[in-house]
Amino acid sequence: MLERVAICPGSFDPVTNGHLAIMRRGLALFDRVIVAVAINISKRALFSYDERVAMIRESFSDEPRLVIESLQGLLTDYADTHGAIAIIRGLRGPSDLAYEMQMAQMNRHLKPDLDTVFLASDSERAFVSSSLVREVASLGGDASALVPPHVWTALNAKLKTP
Ligand code: PNS
Repeated sequence: MLERVAICPGSFDPVTNGHLAIMRRGLALFDRVIVAVAINISKRALFSYDERVAMIRESFSDEPRLVIESLQGLLTDYADTHGAIAIIRGLRGPSDLAYEMQMAQMNRHLKPDLDTVFLASDSERAFVSSSLVREVASLGGDASALVPPHVWTALNAKLKTP
């Protein structure tokens, strides 16, 4: 039977518990999930590409059906090359919708046979974003419950280095 592959793309700077929950739920829906970590993100990344990948890998060391790769160029071309049938994106609430719909429709314009599957985030994680976690950490606040322990440690170490 044909393997059903989905791509879960993003910046993941750094990965949060919200992202990880979406990735795990993606594994329940598809045979394989490719986490595509964007190399050239428009916002300046705090973590390098290698660091962002390593932090995700540590959370999925027990899951051979999840692979982590780099995303360069158009997501629709990437989906073509990797034989993916769907893009998985988490939706935290209405504020995500405009941006997500625009991307999903552009991707659909470029590749009509590639569907975007939106997964509604758990309500207790609806406020969690990489950028807010970074900001809270940089100001000395405690956002440790919102990311895996190894990410929290890496974040604090990174923010200490000048
Ligand atoms: O986590 P982010 O930053 O919201 O993820 C955005 C991402 C990486 C999914 C988006 O920027 C993307 O798909 N980049 C690849 C380039 C591309 O295909 N751009 C057109 C998108 S409609």
